[in-house]
Amino acid sequence: MVLVQFTGLSGSGKTTLAENVHQLLVAEGYKVEVIDGDVYRTTICKDLGFSKEDRCENIRRLFKVGRDFVKADTIVLMSVINPYENLRNELRAHKFVRTVFLDCSIENLIKRDPKGLYKKALLPDNDSNKINNFTGISAVFEIPLRADLVLKTDLETVSLSINKLYNFIIENLYNCS
Ligand code: ADX
Repeated sequence: MVLVQFTGLSGSGKTTLAENVHQLLVAEGYKVEVIDGDVYRTTICKDLGFSKEDRCENIRRLFKVGRDFVKADTIVLMSVINPYENLRNELRAHKFVRTVFLDCSIENLIKRDPKGLYKKALLPDNDSNKINNFTGISAVFEIPLRADLVLKTDLETVSLSINKLYNFIIENLYNCS
């Protein structure tokens, strides 16, 4: 089975793609688990913030959960920002891991900003509503050098990205254990 580690900025389409591909795969009879950073940050990663150390711990914990699902013949979609190349490489060292980069320009994300998070990240330093350490604005996002699939989510339609991701997963299902 395969574990897909997403990597991409907030708002780049991770949740939308994961949810849609999840439905398609389930309809074909596959067992699928979406591990969403936003969700797990309210449960087993509740104690973690957005420093480098905490983000790495977050990804490592989620990977442990994901690995158990893979062992139980389940396709795993890890829907997280996952901003560090070293940590992505740490996960890639496992044969069942594939890396998918959701590539979307920061200009587009700031323009769309459905959760209003970029607006808050761009507030002046003395504003009490400002979000600090925000990926792409005040915290680093390292461009992946070795992604297995790149989806340009601001240039292609959602349905094209969904199709590409779905086909990629099917092609990679059994050649990675
Ligand atoms: S990761 O960096 O550790 O991979 P993760 O995917 O779990 O991040 O969580 C990212 C989500 O947390 C974002 O989609 C956003 O909703 C929220 N968030 C809150 N504060 C920040 C921040 N400083 N940087 C990035 N995302 C943040």
